[in-house]
Amino acid sequence: MVSRRALLRSAAIAAFASPLLEACTRSAEPTSNPTPSASTLGLSFPAGFVWGAATSAYQIEGAVAEDGRGPSIWDTFSHERGSIVDGSNGDVACDHYHRFETDLDIMRDLGIRSYRFSISWPRIMPSGTGSVNVKGVDFYKRLIDGLHSRGIAAVATLFHWDLPQPLQDKGGWENRDCASWFGDYAAAVFAALGPSVPTWLTINEPKTIVQVGYTYGSMAPGKRDSKAAAVASHHLALAHGRAVQAFRAANTGGRIGPALNLAPVYAASGFPSGAPDDAVRRQDGVENRLYLDPILTGSYPTDTAEFLGAAPFAALQAVIHDGDLAVIGAPVDVLGVNYYNPTIVDTGGSTVTKLPTSIAEWEQIYPQGLSDILTRLTREHPNLPLVVTENGIPNDGNDAADANDDERIGYLRDHLAAAHAAIEAGAKLEGYHLWSLLDNFEWAQGYTQRWGIVHVDFTTQQRTPKSSAHWYSGVISRNGV
Ligand code: FCB
Repeated sequence: MVSRRALLRSAAIAAFASPLLEACTRSAEPTSNPTPSASTLGLSFPAGFVWGAATSAYQIEGAVAEDGRGPSIWDTFSHERGSIVDGSNGDVACDHYHRFETDLDIMRDLGIRSYRFSISWPRIMPSGTGSVNVKGVDFYKRLIDGLHSRGIAAVATLFHWDLPQPLQDKGGWENRDCASWFGDYAAAVFAALGPSVPTWLTINEPKTIVQVGYTYGSMAPGKRDSKAAAVASHHLALAHGRAVQAFRAANTGGRIGPALNLAPVYAASGFPSGAPDDAVRRQDGVENRLYLDPILTGSYPTDTAEFLGAAPFAALQAVIHDGDLAVIGAPVDVLGVNYYNPTIVDTGGSTVTKLPTSIAEWEQIYPQGLSDILTRLTREHPNLPLVVTENGIPNDGNDAADANDDERIGYLRDHLAAAHAAIEAGAKLEGYHLWSLLDNFEWAQGYTQRWGIVHVDFTTQQRTPKSSAHWYSGVISRNGV
């Protein structure tokens, strides 16, 4: 029997088109060295390519009841019996709130040049609206100052799922007002921190909120209602638009855009080169166009009724007001792309698993998918700068601090090779943030999946860079894989 690790390694990308970008040079042919930590593919990235790492507030900060922070829906959800596989929560997580200087030092020592983090809405506005909590703002000021003093650029996400609980009590994303509350929160953040952050991301992965939070219910707020999901989807898009409006009004400089998890869709029959059919088109609507099109074209896809189904579509239509799409579709400066997996669909519209997955069963591993989605985005939106805002793989919760995470190195290497191929083919990709800097609270999976390049001992809070961290440091210093 072939082990999963062996299968993962065999997924390495082997061939590339000839370079289109002068700045991309290749100094050697790709090799298939079985020890990825020792191998390089000889692929150089363009000068100025941004190398980063990502985290989010609830997954790392801890300190949930400190310095005036209010409760979020993830505090509520994680404390409900049975909602998190190991019964854990983010009360302490990586204790980053108290240890952020250590974490910034680790990044500096690895040579990481860009840090994507998220701002906790309930730290800034404990009840979701109204007065600003100065101590919460001060934490992010200290964090951003610490980044600057170490030469690391700040990429701040306004919302990575931790909705203030008092707003959920008023209907959360099913309530149209939530978009305006988000706009007010965003304005407060820009007023306090705007000039010191060069890149802002509005909402992380609205699709995950819609699908997992509202349709399947395995993440907060734990609903199972496809009509509510469709409504939430529109209000999340409107909230994005309200934040962009607030950003333009604040005029602090810098740029802003959404962070979308996108999944290229392929036909199961003849994968990977089967011709796209109607099932592929519909699934592409569900996975990608429902989120991309309103923001980037100011309209919902013409086949939305077909891929959403009649009842959710009617629910969506009922909440679209005149003028909403102009707000949602106002120009953005950058698109954050989270890429983990493709979606493979059979002619009946069922998604199928055809590839090895990571221990996250949803994560079929297909580096070429990253290349395909990036080149598609530039084809469809030629002037829009792209940044990979998440990409990574977990190892399981039992790995020792010094575990050799070759599997992660192989994954990252192959995805970076795919990103490089996309750049050669003309994709406007400016940077890459792996997920994640630290092992952290992986939502409903608790601490059973370790996504970090830095091991965290959750008993002692000791941080230990894994072999992937050292490997990534080499990538950064060579500006290539
Ligand atoms: C993404 C989330 C991120 C993390 C990774 C593994 O969908 O944005 O917080 O959970 O998956």
